[in-house]
Amino acid sequence: MTLLLLGEFENPEIWISALKTYQPELKIEVYPNFTNSSEINAVLAWMPPLGVIEQFPNLKVIISTGAGVDHILRDPNLPANIPIVRLVDGSLTSQMSEYILLAVLQYHRQFITYKTQQNQGLWQGLSPRNTANCTVGILGLGVLGLDIAQKLKMMGFAVRGWSRTPKVLDKINCFSGEEEFKLFLSECEVLVCLLPLTPETEGILNQNTFSALPQGAYLINVARGKHLVEEDLLNALKSGQLSGACLDVFQIEPLPKDHLFWTHPKIIITPHIAAKTIPACVAPQIIDAINKSQAGLLLNHTVDVSRGY
Ligand code: NAP
Ligand code: GLV
Repeated sequence: MTLLLLGEFENPEIWISALKTYQPELKIEVYPNFTNSSEINAVLAWMPPLGVIEQFPNLKVIISTGAGVDHILRDPNLPANIPIVRLVDGSLTSQMSEYILLAVLQYHRQFITYKTQQNQGLWQGLSPRNTANCTVGILGLGVLGLDIAQKLKMMGFAVRGWSRTPKVLDKINCFSGEEEFKLFLSECEVLVCLLPLTPETEGILNQNTFSALPQGAYLINVARGKHLVEEDLLNALKSGQLSGACLDVFQIEPLPKDHLFWTHPKIIITPHIAAKTIPACVAPQIIDAINKSQAGLLLNHTVDVSRGY
């Protein structure tokens, strides 16, 4: 049984060592250095090069090294009927919630303005804001969206969420589908994007969406760069429709050196680190997926390819 690491891996050795801790006899190869394509039974992938996965006739499972799978599904030649598994992991979830909490609180407690005042040597308190009056809207109420929605609720924020299918959650105002999108947006002082990237959600952070938010709303995009129409964000910041944005993901990554976002005074940038997979944390579920797929057993966290997530 052979696992192939395919695509972008910062440090394949760390992955190999984490996986071998749980299954020392597992043969692991790193693309493009593999011996025999018919020996590959499992692929562990991040941004796999297009057209490669279809070359393995005995493949039983494709595993994403992250929560998202858009980087796999973009391959038009993926073999049909090979299950795709994504990661659902406590460390990913808590990292993501920490990041969003930090971004929401930075905005809500006006740290961005206080930093500017510090630079000017200005000692001046701003009017305090009532947390219960601050509505945070979460686009996507899946594994990650639900966790941060509950944590923000515990902190006293008014929380609402939007998903594809209807949900009922305690003290979280739930909206679903296109029909309820504008209603959902109408009170979001902070909008957090935690949607998977699919044909339906690509470009969803656009001028129409921004204009349906209360004036001066704050945007946090931690999902994918292609959710955001970057020019529309610049225009919304210029007009004051949005007061600022915290962005972890971008249309092109790494963000090009000459991109306007780098120096924009109302934009905070991080390099796609909101929730980074820790190999040692996820190795057991990867080994489990490989073994179950070989044994023909039901897999956890499989992707519904027709939905795109
Ligand atoms: P998930 O559990 O699959 O949840 C996805 C949520 O989005 C679900 O609530 C789903 O609705 C909703 N959704 C999907 N399509 C929709 C549509 N067309 N309209 C409305 N709602 C829609 O995903 P997750 O684990 O929370 O992860 C979300 C995304 O975060 C990933 O796909 C990935 O791109 C991103 N991510 C980013 C980082 C980072 O470091 N920046 C790290 C990890 C993940 P239903 O509940 O009705 O199905
Ligand atoms: C990271 O972006 C992930 O999808 O886990």
